[in-house]
Amino acid sequence: METTPAQPPRPHRQVVTYVRRSPRMTSSQASWLQDYAARWIVPVIEDSRITSVAAQPCLDFATIFARSAPLIAEIGCGHGEAITTSARLHPQTNFLGFEVFDASIASTLGKIAANELTNVRLIAADAIGGLAHLVPDQALSEVWIFFPDPWPKKRHHKRRLVSPAFADLLAQKLTPGGLIRLATDWESYATAAEAAFADHRFELVAQTRFTDRPITKFEARAIAAGRTIYDLTYRVDCNHENTP
Ligand SMILES: C[S@@+](CC[C@H](N)C(=O)[O-])C[C@H]1O[C@@H](n2cnc3c(N)ncnc32)[C@H](O)[C@@H]1O
Repeated sequence: METTPAQPPRPHRQVVTYVRRSPRMTSSQASWLQDYAARWIVPVIEDSRITSVAAQPCLDFATIFARSAPLIAEIGCGHGEAITTSARLHPQTNFLGFEVFDASIASTLGKIAANELTNVRLIAADAIGGLAHLVPDQALSEVWIFFPDPWPKKRHHKRRLVSPAFADLLAQKLTPGGLIRLATDWESYATAAEAAFADHRFELVAQTRFTDRPITKFEARAIAAGRTIYDLTYRVDCNHENTP
């Protein structure tokens, strides 16, 4: 009897927290990417899927920034409003932005270059693998997550960035006493984040707006639609019984 040749196993399609959008860019974005990527984007080894970070040695941030300073990571920095504003206001702090969308990275590069910021670098890849593989444990003084993609439908909740496993990863990468600052306009996201962080070594220390955070189009849209903005700041709870 004739047999069909065995098919190679299909690679497992990992759930990601973002939508792969059109690679289209404006001509300004294309030129910012071309002119500034080499200066401000940290090259990383991707795995077989574009924007996913392969296992590799951690980055040496003292070498990358040519100095030792507190390091703040922003996940999903969008068009770079928050990271570039804060980098300008706090020249003594280093900033690391993670973003997967090329047009957003390009816009952030445009702002970094216009302000000649030396204390910002970008990683153009998935922050989950990026934090796991590139950032040494206890290297971050703060992690910012402003308006993460909400994935409001229940069947899409597995795509949300904030989860109990992600809270564990952040606890590992933050310095003792380090902070997470989260803003979201989705009540169910805020509730899920509170559950994830409270059970995973974090204590809630503020529910007020972080003053450095500029209003972006995502927040403006939420306000125009009448939605409440939830600002949550958590600190790694050094006394938590699970803290190693
Ligand atoms: C709704 S936008 C918010 C952008 C910005 N923080 C703001 O407040 O305007 C969410 C951003 O997170 C990015 N993003 C989602 N998941 C990500 C991940 N795993 N790693 C890096 N960026 C991610 C998306 O590409 C998108 O730009």
